Amino acid sequence: MLVNNLENLPQDILRLFRQIGKIAQENNCRVYIVGGMIRDLYLGRENFDFDIVVEGDGIALAKKLADKFKAKLVDHEKFATAVLFVPNGIKIDIATARKETYEHPGALPNVVPGNIEDDLSRRDFSINAMAASLNPEDFGELIDFFDGLSDLKKKEIKVLHDLSFIDDPTRILRAIRFEQRLKFKIEDHSLRLIKEAVKRKAFDTVKPPRIWHELILILYERNPKKYFARISQLCSLKFIHPRLRFKKDTLRLLESVEKILNSYNRLYPDNEPVRGWFIYFIALTDRLGRREIKDVAEKFNLNREERDSLYSYKDTNRNFFSFLSKNTLLPSQIYILLEKLSYETILALRAKTVDKLAKKRIDDFLNIYDKVKLNITGDYLNDLGVSLDSNFKKILDRIFYAKLDGKLKTKEEELQLARELVKNQ
Ligand code: CTP
Repeated sequence: MLVNNLENLPQDILRLFRQIGKIAQENNCRVYIVGGMIRDLYLGRENFDFDIVVEGDGIALAKKLADKFKAKLVDHEKFATAVLFVPNGIKIDIATARKETYEHPGALPNVVPGNIEDDLSRRDFSINAMAASLNPEDFGELIDFFDGLSDLKKKEIKVLHDLSFIDDPTRILRAIRFEQRLKFKIEDHSLRLIKEAVKRKAFDTVKPPRIWHELILILYERNPKKYFARISQLCSLKFIHPRLRFKKDTLRLLESVEKILNSYNRLYPDNEPVRGWFIYFIALTDRLGRREIKDVAEKFNLNREERDSLYSYKDTNRNFFSFLSKNTLLPSQIYILLEKLSYETILALRAKTVDKLAKKRIDDFLNIYDKVKLNITGDYLNDLGVSLDSNFKKILDRIFYAKLDGKLKTKEEELQLARELVKNQ
Protein backbone atom coordinates (compact mmCIF):
# COMPACT_ATOMS: atom_id res chain seq x y z
CA MET A 1 0.00 0.00 0.00
CA LEU A 2 1.30 3.44 -0.89
CA VAL A 3 1.58 6.12 1.80
CA ASN A 4 -1.30 8.57 1.60
CA ASN A 5 -0.69 12.07 0.31
CA LEU A 6 2.96 11.40 -0.58
CA GLU A 7 2.24 12.51 -4.13
CA ASN A 8 0.88 15.81 -2.78
CA LEU A 9 4.28 16.84 -1.43
CA PRO A 10 5.90 19.75 -3.26
CA GLN A 11 7.44 18.61 -6.54
CA ASP A 12 11.02 19.51 -5.59
CA ILE A 13 10.79 17.37 -2.47
CA LEU A 14 9.31 14.41 -4.33
CA ARG A 15 12.01 14.69 -6.97
CA LEU A 16 14.66 14.76 -4.24
CA PHE A 17 13.17 11.66 -2.57
CA ARG A 18 13.17 9.79 -5.87
CA GLN A 19 16.79 10.74 -6.51
CA ILE A 20 17.79 9.61 -3.02
CA GLY A 21 16.08 6.26 -3.64
CA LYS A 22 17.87 5.87 -6.98
CA ILE A 23 21.31 6.68 -5.56
CA ALA A 24 20.70 4.31 -2.64
CA GLN A 25 19.73 1.55 -5.08
CA GLU A 26 22.93 2.13 -7.10
CA ASN A 27 24.84 1.70 -3.85
CA ASN A 28 22.98 -1.43 -2.81
CA CYS A 29 21.24 0.24 0.14
CA ARG A 30 17.63 0.54 1.09
CA VAL A 31 16.36 3.92 2.26
CA TYR A 32 13.21 4.95 4.05
CA ILE A 33 11.60 8.14 5.16
CA VAL A 34 10.45 7.54 8.74
CA GLY A 35 8.70 8.88 11.80
CA GLY A 36 6.69 12.05 12.25
CA MET A 37 6.52 12.92 8.60
CA ILE A 38 4.68 9.72 7.65
CA ARG A 39 2.29 10.22 10.57
CA ASP A 40 1.61 13.78 9.49
CA LEU A 41 1.15 12.86 5.82
CA TYR A 42 -1.79 10.70 6.87
CA LEU A 43 -3.12 13.43 9.12
CA GLY A 44 -2.78 16.07 6.41
CA ARG A 45 -0.50 18.12 8.68
CA GLU A 46 2.47 19.95 7.25
CA ASN A 47 5.78 18.48 8.44
CA PHE A 48 9.04 19.20 6.71
CA ASP A 49 11.23 17.30 9.20
CA PHE A 50 12.82 14.80 6.89
CA ASP A 51 14.23 11.78 8.71
CA ILE A 52 15.80 9.17 6.49
CA VAL A 53 16.94 5.74 7.64
CA VAL A 54 19.42 3.71 5.62
CA GLU A 55 19.84 -0.05 5.72
CA GLY A 56 23.59 -0.09 5.14
CA ASP A 57 26.22 2.57 5.73
CA GLY A 58 24.20 5.76 6.30
CA ILE A 59 27.19 8.08 6.44
CA ALA A 60 28.72 6.69 3.23
CA LEU A 61 25.40 7.21 1.47
CA ALA A 62 25.03 10.69 2.96
CA LYS A 63 28.45 11.59 1.49
CA LYS A 64 27.37 10.36 -1.94
CA LEU A 65 24.15 12.36 -1.70
CA ALA A 66 26.08 15.46 -0.60
CA ASP A 67 28.30 15.16 -3.70
CA LYS A 68 25.37 14.64 -6.01
CA PHE A 69 23.23 17.50 -4.61
CA LYS A 70 26.17 19.80 -3.83
CA ALA A 71 24.81 19.81 -0.30
CA LYS A 72 26.58 20.70 2.91
CA LEU A 73 27.08 17.66 5.12
CA VAL A 74 27.53 17.55 8.89
CA ASP A 75 28.21 14.03 10.08
CA HIS A 76 28.35 12.49 13.54
CA GLU A 77 30.34 9.28 12.92
CA LYS A 78 29.87 8.24 16.56
CA PHE A 79 26.08 8.06 16.15
CA ALA A 80 26.18 6.97 12.47
CA THR A 81 24.04 9.99 11.62
CA ALA A 82 24.43 12.94 9.28
CA VAL A 83 22.57 16.09 8.36
CA LEU A 84 22.37 17.16 4.75
CA PHE A 85 21.69 20.79 3.88
CA VAL A 86 20.50 20.80 0.27
CA PRO A 87 21.00 24.13 -1.54
CA ASN A 88 17.25 24.74 -2.04
CA GLY A 89 16.91 25.05 1.77
CA ILE A 90 15.84 21.50 2.51
CA LYS A 91 17.42 19.82 5.52
CA ILE A 92 17.50 16.04 5.77
CA ASP A 93 18.53 13.93 8.75
CA ILE A 94 20.10 10.66 7.70
CA ALA A 95 20.76 7.74 10.05
CA THR A 96 21.99 4.20 9.70
CA ALA A 97 19.22 1.79 10.69
CA ARG A 98 19.98 0.69 14.23
CA LYS A 99 19.13 -1.59 17.05
CA GLU A 100 19.11 -0.18 20.57
CA THR A 101 19.52 -1.68 24.01
CA TYR A 102 19.34 0.24 27.29
CA GLU A 103 22.01 -0.48 29.90
CA HIS A 104 19.82 0.95 32.64
CA PRO A 105 16.52 2.85 32.61
CA GLY A 106 16.73 6.49 31.58
CA ALA A 107 20.23 6.05 30.11
CA LEU A 108 21.07 6.80 26.52
CA PRO A 109 20.79 3.59 24.52
CA ASN A 110 23.61 1.34 23.26
CA VAL A 111 23.43 1.25 19.51
CA VAL A 112 24.42 -1.37 16.89
CA PRO A 113 23.55 -1.43 13.16
CA GLY A 114 20.29 -3.14 12.27
CA ASN A 115 17.54 -3.24 9.65
CA ILE A 116 14.45 -1.06 9.23
CA GLU A 117 12.38 -3.30 11.48
CA ASP A 118 14.97 -2.96 14.28
CA ASP A 119 15.03 0.76 13.73
CA LEU A 120 11.27 1.14 13.90
CA SER A 121 10.91 -1.18 16.87
CA ARG A 122 13.10 1.10 19.06
CA ARG A 123 10.68 4.00 18.56
CA ASP A 124 8.17 5.47 20.94
CA PHE A 125 4.67 4.98 19.55
CA SER A 126 3.12 2.96 16.75
CA ILE A 127 1.96 6.13 14.98
CA ASN A 128 5.61 7.30 14.90
CA ALA A 129 6.97 3.92 13.82
CA MET A 130 5.84 3.91 10.19
CA ALA A 131 8.10 4.38 7.20
CA ALA A 132 7.91 4.77 3.44
CA SER A 133 10.39 3.14 1.09
CA LEU A 134 12.24 5.45 -1.27
CA ASN A 135 13.93 2.82 -3.47
CA PRO A 136 12.64 2.91 -7.08
CA GLU A 137 11.24 -0.65 -7.01
CA ASP A 138 8.71 0.17 -4.28
CA PHE A 139 8.82 3.95 -3.97
CA GLY A 140 6.22 5.22 -1.51
CA GLU A 141 5.33 1.79 -0.13
CA LEU A 142 4.16 1.96 3.50
CA ILE A 143 6.19 -0.04 6.05
CA ASP A 144 4.09 -0.57 9.15
CA PHE A 145 5.18 -3.46 11.40
CA PHE A 146 3.29 -2.17 14.44
CA ASP A 147 -0.14 -1.28 13.06
CA GLY A 148 0.56 2.41 13.31
CA LEU A 149 -1.96 3.15 10.59
CA SER A 150 -4.72 1.35 12.43
CA ASP A 151 -3.87 3.29 15.64
CA LEU A 152 -3.80 6.50 13.66
CA LYS A 153 -7.32 5.76 12.47
CA LYS A 154 -8.38 4.92 16.04
CA LYS A 155 -6.66 8.15 17.16
CA GLU A 156 -4.61 6.29 19.73
CA ILE A 157 -1.12 6.74 21.14
CA LYS A 158 0.25 3.31 21.82
CA VAL A 159 3.73 2.12 22.84
CA LEU A 160 5.44 -0.74 21.06
CA HIS A 161 6.41 -2.67 24.20
CA ASP A 162 5.83 -2.64 27.96
CA LEU A 163 9.21 -1.23 28.95
CA SER A 164 9.02 1.76 26.64
CA PHE A 165 8.36 4.38 29.37
CA ILE A 166 10.89 2.78 31.73
CA ASP A 167 13.56 2.75 29.01
CA ASP A 168 12.83 6.36 28.17
CA PRO A 169 10.58 8.23 30.63
CA THR A 170 10.65 11.36 28.45
CA ARG A 171 8.21 9.41 26.31
CA ILE A 172 5.60 10.07 29.00
CA LEU A 173 5.82 13.75 28.10
CA ARG A 174 5.89 12.91 24.41
CA ALA A 175 2.75 10.76 24.75
CA ILE A 176 0.94 13.66 26.39
CA ARG A 177 2.28 16.08 23.78
CA PHE A 178 0.94 14.02 20.89
CA GLU A 179 -2.31 13.29 22.72
CA GLN A 180 -3.00 16.98 23.23
CA ARG A 181 -1.65 18.21 19.91
CA LEU A 182 -3.47 15.66 17.75
CA LYS A 183 -6.52 15.36 20.04
CA PHE A 184 -5.80 11.63 20.29
CA LYS A 185 -6.20 9.36 23.30
CA ILE A 186 -3.44 7.47 25.07
CA GLU A 187 -4.42 3.82 24.62
CA ASP A 188 -5.55 2.12 27.87
CA HIS A 189 -2.64 -0.25 28.31
CA SER A 190 -0.11 2.48 27.49
CA LEU A 191 -1.85 4.71 30.04
CA ARG A 192 -1.45 2.02 32.69
CA LEU A 193 2.24 1.75 31.77
CA ILE A 194 2.61 5.51 32.25
CA LYS A 195 1.03 5.32 35.70
CA GLU A 196 3.27 2.41 36.64
CA ALA A 197 6.39 4.20 35.41
CA VAL A 198 5.43 7.30 37.40
CA LYS A 199 4.86 5.17 40.51
CA ARG A 200 8.34 3.71 40.02
CA LYS A 201 9.71 7.30 39.89
CA ALA A 202 10.92 6.82 36.34
CA PHE A 203 11.71 10.54 35.95
CA ASP A 204 14.42 10.29 38.60
CA THR A 205 16.55 8.34 36.11
CA VAL A 206 16.45 11.02 33.42
CA LYS A 207 19.18 13.62 33.02
CA PRO A 208 17.68 17.14 33.39
CA PRO A 209 18.73 18.37 29.91
CA ARG A 210 16.52 15.69 28.34
CA ILE A 211 13.57 16.80 30.48
CA TRP A 212 14.26 20.43 29.64
CA HIS A 213 14.27 19.59 25.93
CA GLU A 214 10.83 18.00 26.22
CA LEU A 215 9.52 20.88 28.32
CA ILE A 216 10.58 23.38 25.71
CA LEU A 217 8.81 21.38 23.00
CA ILE A 218 5.61 21.55 25.04
CA LEU A 219 6.07 25.24 25.80
CA TYR A 220 6.35 25.80 22.05
CA GLU A 221 2.97 24.16 21.38
CA ARG A 222 0.00 26.40 20.69
CA ASN A 223 -1.82 25.91 23.94
CA PRO A 224 0.57 24.65 26.64
CA LYS A 225 -1.90 24.99 29.53
CA LYS A 226 -3.83 21.92 28.36
CA TYR A 227 -0.61 19.95 28.16
CA PHE A 228 0.50 20.89 31.67
CA ALA A 229 -2.93 20.24 33.13
CA ARG A 230 -2.73 16.74 31.70
CA ILE A 231 0.88 16.24 32.82
CA SER A 232 -0.11 17.32 36.29
CA GLN A 233 -3.00 14.87 36.26
CA LEU A 234 -0.93 11.91 35.06
CA CYS A 235 2.42 12.43 36.70
CA SER A 236 2.42 15.74 38.63
CA LEU A 237 4.99 18.44 37.98
CA LYS A 238 7.42 17.10 40.55
CA PHE A 239 9.92 16.21 37.86
CA ILE A 240 10.37 19.97 37.36
CA HIS A 241 10.55 20.73 41.09
CA PRO A 242 9.33 18.58 44.01
CA ARG A 243 7.19 21.47 45.27
CA LEU A 244 5.68 22.56 42.00
CA ARG A 245 1.92 22.12 41.79
CA PHE A 246 -0.53 22.90 39.04
CA LYS A 247 -3.47 24.73 40.61
CA LYS A 248 -6.34 26.85 39.34
CA ASP A 249 -4.27 30.01 39.59
CA THR A 250 -1.54 28.40 37.42
CA LEU A 251 -4.17 27.58 34.83
CA ARG A 252 -5.52 31.13 34.96
CA LEU A 253 -2.06 32.61 34.60
CA LEU A 254 -1.22 30.39 31.63
CA GLU A 255 -4.54 31.38 30.06
CA SER A 256 -3.73 35.00 30.57
CA VAL A 257 -0.28 34.57 28.95
CA GLU A 258 -1.95 32.81 26.06
CA LYS A 259 -4.34 35.72 25.55
CA ILE A 260 -1.50 38.24 25.51
CA LEU A 261 0.56 36.18 23.07
CA ASN A 262 -2.40 35.59 20.79
CA SER A 263 -3.06 39.30 20.54
CA TYR A 264 0.60 40.33 20.77
CA ASN A 265 0.65 41.97 17.34
CA ARG A 266 -2.48 43.95 18.11
CA LEU A 267 -1.40 44.98 21.61
CA TYR A 268 2.18 45.82 20.67
CA PRO A 269 2.13 46.52 16.93
CA ASP A 270 5.72 47.73 16.53
CA ASN A 271 7.52 45.41 18.88
CA GLU A 272 9.92 42.60 18.08
CA PRO A 273 8.61 39.10 18.73
CA VAL A 274 9.19 37.81 22.27
CA ARG A 275 10.06 34.31 23.42
CA GLY A 276 6.54 33.17 24.20
CA TRP A 277 7.65 29.73 25.38
CA PHE A 278 9.68 31.32 28.14
CA ILE A 279 6.81 33.51 29.33
CA TYR A 280 4.76 30.34 29.68
CA PHE A 281 7.58 28.83 31.71
CA ILE A 282 7.69 31.84 34.05
CA ALA A 283 3.93 31.45 34.52
CA LEU A 284 4.17 27.70 35.05
CA THR A 285 6.67 28.14 37.88
CA ASP A 286 4.86 31.16 39.39
CA ARG A 287 3.92 29.24 42.55
CA LEU A 288 7.54 28.48 43.44
CA GLY A 289 9.47 30.68 45.85
CA ARG A 290 12.75 32.44 45.13
CA ARG A 291 14.95 29.61 46.40
CA GLU A 292 12.97 26.97 44.52
CA ILE A 293 13.20 28.99 41.33
CA LYS A 294 16.95 29.01 41.81
CA ASP A 295 16.91 25.19 42.15
CA VAL A 296 14.99 24.95 38.88
CA ALA A 297 17.38 27.33 37.10
CA GLU A 298 20.33 25.27 38.30
CA LYS A 299 18.77 21.92 37.56
CA PHE A 300 18.05 22.84 33.96
CA ASN A 301 21.20 24.90 33.59
CA LEU A 302 19.33 27.97 32.38
CA ASN A 303 21.41 30.72 30.82
CA ARG A 304 22.07 34.11 32.41
CA GLU A 305 19.27 35.85 30.56
CA GLU A 306 16.70 33.20 31.45
CA ARG A 307 17.76 33.24 35.10
CA ASP A 308 17.56 37.02 35.25
CA SER A 309 14.06 36.95 33.79
CA LEU A 310 12.87 34.35 36.29
CA TYR A 311 14.51 36.00 39.30
CA SER A 312 13.34 39.50 38.45
CA TYR A 313 9.80 38.21 38.01
CA LYS A 314 9.98 36.77 41.53
CA ASP A 315 11.59 39.88 42.98
CA THR A 316 9.20 42.41 41.49
CA ASN A 317 6.07 40.53 42.37
CA ARG A 318 5.56 41.95 45.85
CA ASN A 319 5.33 45.71 45.56
CA PHE A 320 5.19 45.94 41.86
CA PHE A 321 1.44 45.91 41.33
CA SER A 322 0.50 48.23 44.17
CA PHE A 323 2.97 50.75 42.77
CA LEU A 324 1.73 50.34 39.18
CA SER A 325 -1.89 50.84 40.18
CA LYS A 326 -1.30 54.11 42.07
CA ASN A 327 -3.53 56.94 40.94
CA THR A 328 -0.81 59.31 39.91
CA LEU A 329 2.36 58.11 38.31
CA LEU A 330 4.65 59.87 35.90
CA PRO A 331 5.76 58.09 32.74
CA SER A 332 9.35 58.34 34.01
CA GLN A 333 8.41 56.48 37.20
CA ILE A 334 6.87 53.70 35.14
CA TYR A 335 9.90 53.66 32.90
CA ILE A 336 12.34 53.41 35.82
CA LEU A 337 10.39 50.48 37.22
CA LEU A 338 10.16 48.49 34.00
CA GLU A 339 13.23 49.44 32.06
CA LYS A 340 15.50 46.98 33.85
CA LEU A 341 13.25 43.98 33.16
CA SER A 342 13.22 41.71 30.10
CA TYR A 343 10.12 41.81 27.89
CA GLU A 344 9.46 38.21 28.93
CA THR A 345 9.33 39.22 32.59
CA ILE A 346 7.22 42.28 31.85
CA LEU A 347 4.67 40.27 29.88
CA ALA A 348 4.51 37.57 32.55
CA LEU A 349 3.78 40.34 35.08
CA ARG A 350 1.23 41.84 32.69
CA ALA A 351 -0.46 38.42 32.58
CA LYS A 352 -0.48 38.21 36.35
CA THR A 353 -2.12 41.52 37.12
CA VAL A 354 -5.88 42.00 36.96
CA ASP A 355 -5.61 45.74 37.54
CA LYS A 356 -6.61 47.67 34.41
CA LEU A 357 -4.48 50.69 35.20
CA ALA A 358 -1.39 48.54 35.80
CA LYS A 359 -2.00 46.78 32.47
CA LYS A 360 -2.40 50.08 30.65
CA ARG A 361 0.84 51.38 32.14
CA ILE A 362 2.75 48.29 31.07
CA ASP A 363 1.32 48.67 27.57
CA ASP A 364 2.30 52.34 27.49
CA PHE A 365 5.82 51.39 28.51
CA LEU A 366 6.11 48.80 25.74
CA ASN A 367 4.44 50.89 23.05
CA ILE A 368 5.55 54.41 23.91
CA TYR A 369 8.07 55.05 26.68
CA ASP A 370 10.52 52.34 25.70
CA LYS A 371 10.68 53.78 22.19
CA VAL A 372 11.38 57.38 23.15
CA LYS A 373 14.83 58.66 22.17
CA LEU A 374 16.58 61.92 22.97
CA ASN A 375 17.49 64.24 20.12
CA ILE A 376 20.77 65.10 21.75
CA THR A 377 23.54 62.57 22.31
CA GLY A 378 26.27 62.20 24.90
CA ASP A 379 28.62 64.08 22.58
CA TYR A 380 26.85 67.27 23.46
CA LEU A 381 27.53 66.75 27.19
CA ASN A 382 31.15 66.08 26.27
CA ASP A 383 31.28 69.39 24.48
CA LEU A 384 29.93 71.04 27.64
CA GLY A 385 32.87 69.54 29.50
CA VAL A 386 31.09 66.75 31.44
CA SER A 387 33.47 63.82 31.84
CA LEU A 388 32.25 60.29 31.18
CA ASP A 389 32.76 59.11 34.74
CA SER A 390 31.07 61.79 36.86
CA ASN A 391 27.47 62.81 36.35
CA PHE A 392 27.30 61.92 32.71
CA LYS A 393 24.65 59.19 32.90
CA LYS A 394 22.71 60.96 35.64
CA ILE A 395 22.38 64.11 33.54
CA LEU A 396 21.38 62.24 30.39
CA ASP A 397 18.81 60.27 32.39
CA ARG A 398 17.31 63.43 33.85
CA ILE A 399 16.91 64.93 30.41
CA PHE A 400 15.41 61.69 29.18
CA TYR A 401 12.92 61.49 32.07
CA ALA A 402 11.92 65.10 31.52
CA LYS A 403 11.23 64.26 27.89
CA LEU A 404 9.20 61.17 28.87
CA ASP A 405 7.14 63.34 31.20
CA GLY A 406 6.33 65.71 28.36
CA LYS A 407 8.41 68.61 29.67
CA LEU A 408 10.66 68.82 26.60
CA LYS A 409 9.32 69.02 23.08
CA THR A 410 12.24 70.14 20.93
CA LYS A 411 15.94 69.50 20.61
CA GLU A 412 16.55 73.09 21.72
CA GLU A 413 14.67 72.43 24.97
CA GLU A 414 16.80 69.33 25.57
CA LEU A 415 19.95 71.39 24.99
CA GLN A 416 18.71 74.08 27.32
CA LEU A 417 18.07 71.61 30.13
CA ALA A 418 21.46 69.99 29.53
CA ARG A 419 23.15 73.35 29.95
CA GLU A 420 21.22 74.08 33.15
CA LEU A 421 22.00 70.70 34.67
CA VAL A 422 25.67 70.98 33.81
CA LYS A 423 25.84 74.44 35.34
CA ASN A 424 24.22 73.25 38.59
CA GLN A 425 26.07 69.96 38.97
N1 CTP B 1 11.64 9.09 19.06
C1 CTP B 1 11.50 8.09 20.02
N2 CTP B 1 11.70 8.36 21.35
C2 CTP B 1 12.05 9.62 21.73
C3 CTP B 1 12.21 10.64 20.78
C4 CTP B 1 11.99 10.35 19.44
O1 CTP B 1 11.18 6.97 19.67
N3 CTP B 1 12.25 9.86 23.03
C5 CTP B 1 11.44 8.74 17.63
C6 CTP B 1 9.99 8.81 17.16
O2 CTP B 1 9.77 7.74 16.27
C7 CTP B 1 9.91 10.10 16.39
C8 CTP B 1 11.33 10.24 15.83
O3 CTP B 1 12.18 9.62 16.81
O4 CTP B 1 8.94 10.05 15.38
C9 CTP B 1 11.77 11.65 15.58
O5 CTP B 1 11.71 12.41 16.79
P1 CTP B 1 11.10 13.86 16.82
O6 CTP B 1 11.61 14.63 15.69
O7 CTP B 1 11.29 14.39 18.20
O8 CTP B 1 9.57 13.49 16.70
P2 CTP B 1 8.44 13.78 15.65
O9 CTP B 1 7.59 12.57 15.66
O10 CTP B 1 8.98 14.24 14.35
O11 CTP B 1 7.65 14.90 16.43
P3 CTP B 1 7.37 16.44 16.09
O12 CTP B 1 6.20 16.39 15.18
O13 CTP B 1 7.06 17.05 17.43
O14 CTP B 1 8.64 16.98 15.49
